[in-house]
Amino acid sequence: MKLFLDTANIGDIRNGVRLGVISGVTTNPSLAAAEGIGSAESYKSAVREISEMVDGPISVEVVSLDAKGMIAEGRDIAGWIPNPWVKIPSTADGFEAISVLTSEGINVNQTLCFSVNQALLGAQAGSTAVSPFIGRLDDIGLQGVDLIRDIVSVYEKHKIETKVLAASIRHTLHCTLAAQAGAHIATVPYKVLLQMVNHPLTDSGVARFKADWDKTGNS
Ligand code: G3P
Repeated sequence: MKLFLDTANIGDIRNGVRLGVISGVTTNPSLAAAEGIGSAESYKSAVREISEMVDGPISVEVVSLDAKGMIAEGRDIAGWIPNPWVKIPSTADGFEAISVLTSEGINVNQTLCFSVNQALLGAQAGSTAVSPFIGRLDDIGLQGVDLIRDIVSVYEKHKIETKVLAASIRHTLHCTLAAQAGAHIATVPYKVLLQMVNHPLTDSGVARFKADWDKTGNS
């Protein structure tokens, strides 16, 4: 399972990329707004900066609600950077936009997916990746990771090539469970990436190795 960073924060992306474990970035209007990005122009320049740091797909979301607007935005975004994945929501207008954009060779990350049926529709429309939001399903009392497992199993059964991208990841267990469920990609907030790194036994082990070595008089 590949790891993407789910943020529009340039500093966090720079720090995350330095670890050598990040294969892409996902953004959305809420994440952009959280960084003070308030216009298409500033979104574009942030995305260009991200694209220079990350060797992999950068997901950029449309804000139109109608198919015509989504298609126009998607075509525009496709020209911003070398490897864009246009994020389109799992709505009727969204599926129409996905089918048009993918027929033009534009990669699409189908977002806000909450059911196997939406994942099936997106695959038929040509989605490059589908993003089930597991944290938001947990929020309403469901097991979000079950959706990952169900989509992966249906896609495998029907030899569908659309990637399953686990999104709305809130903690490290989500990431482990998404991997066990067969997700191809998980997009994680920077905070979760750092939590994935840390383990108290690693920290105490490193400290003990160093202390034991120092006791010998070596340094
Ligand atoms: O990847 C989608 C993500 O940004 C949404 O996460 O925590 O707002 O549900 P969240």
